[in-house]
Amino acid sequence: MRLERGAPVGVLGAGAMGSGIAQVAATHGHPVTLVDADAAALDRARAGIEKALRREVEKGRLDAAKAAEIVQRVRFYSAPAADGMGVFAECALVIEAIVEALDVKRAVFARIEAAVSDGCVLATNTSSLPIAGIASACTRSERVLGVHFFNPAPVMPLVEIIPWMGTAPEIAMHVRALVDGWKKVTVFSSDTPGFIVNRVARPFYGEGLRLYEEGIADIATIDWAMREVGGFRMGPFELMDLIGNDVNFAVTSSVFEACFFDPRYMPSITQQRLVEAGRLGRKTGQGFYDYREGAANPEPIIDRAMGERIFERILVMLINEAVDAVHWGVASRADIDLAVTKGVNYPKGLLAWADQLGLDWVLARLMELQEDYGEDRYRPSVLLRRMVREGRRFE
Ligand SMILES: NC(=O)c1ccc[n+]([C@@H]2O[C@H](COP(=O)([O-])OP(=O)(O)OC[C@H]3O[C@@H](n4cnc5c(N)ncnc54)[C@H](O)[C@@H]3O)[C@@H](O)[C@H]2O)c1
Repeated sequence: MRLERGAPVGVLGAGAMGSGIAQVAATHGHPVTLVDADAAALDRARAGIEKALRREVEKGRLDAAKAAEIVQRVRFYSAPAADGMGVFAECALVIEAIVEALDVKRAVFARIEAAVSDGCVLATNTSSLPIAGIASACTRSERVLGVHFFNPAPVMPLVEIIPWMGTAPEIAMHVRALVDGWKKVTVFSSDTPGFIVNRVARPFYGEGLRLYEEGIADIATIDWAMREVGGFRMGPFELMDLIGNDVNFAVTSSVFEACFFDPRYMPSITQQRLVEAGRLGRKTGQGFYDYREGAANPEPIIDRAMGERIFERILVMLINEAVDAVHWGVASRADIDLAVTKGVNYPKGLLAWADQLGLDWVLARLMELQEDYGEDRYRPSVLLRRMVREGRRFE
């Protein structure tokens, strides 16, 4: 079966991500086989897809007959009824979106491979695991790659396509073209920790936490600075509360460990304590802020000069991370800027922002921080130093 419009697609895991991915593929004309170990998850997935499509109809973006066709294109199977992975036998592409555990994903990939045809492409939606580690569970591992959607998949435009060192280049190109046809913005990332977005965005949270832990500003003021001075949609603390402090802390910890404890990615004890206290954010009613009925929350201190210092410090750390990602070949310049504007809604691409501010200005701010703290965390990327020395820009 060839990877083309209308080809059957399998999705394993009907949770938040799998159900959204199934909806996207069905919307773009693919018959979808959605499988989960838990029958209740499938019921929730069906209800979730129907609700999302109903909303599209109400908003006049989809007609009711089309919405019904989309739902009918999805077949739901709980794992016992899935005959091992036999229900995927006719699929041209299977996307896995189950629990984030390497040993479980490896076992499942071996089982899927045994059930599908030789031409079927196998993709994982993992956020943090090495694609190489998953692919090597397969015999024909050249057809395995990462296809990383963002949450919620039907809404977020970005998809990171992650070939591992053994993925056949033509398969990666085909998958990118297919997902482009699903009206997504695709970028290629190397198989490195956090891929593009979860790596480059780390300082947004990490440096915000650092400013707070050092007592330089309180959470409300830091959030205000990033919104009002920086033009970001949300500040780091409100965003961590929205994502869930457990999820955000786990991503930071995994990137930190996977980068052999590079101090740039060091997790925060403050956030760890929140997780230990069960204050996970909006979903538990308390996080950095208190979301319970009638709760009082801190007001920001509106001091423009302070706001600019906060914003500049977080921004230069983000830019340094983006420049370093270019240096290490994580992705192209264009894809890095697309990833942060489409994946995490930054107001500008970080490399374009660096050009606009002047690379020499960014370097000078980082060198001040490095001098002040004497920490490797603040080391400027070698590419930033070189570009300043040679008077180059990113555009
Ligand atoms: N939630 C996010 O924001 C997000 C974003 C991008 C990527 N991801 C990644 O997507 C994957 C799924 O995440 P999620 O948030 O949808 O999780 P989830 O917990 O909402 O859903 C996972 C589903 O997989 C099912 N499952 C677990 N093991 C299974 C197995 N062996 N066979 C069949 N079904 C099984 C569970 O019953 C559950 O319904 C993870 O790898 C995660 O890292 C998550």
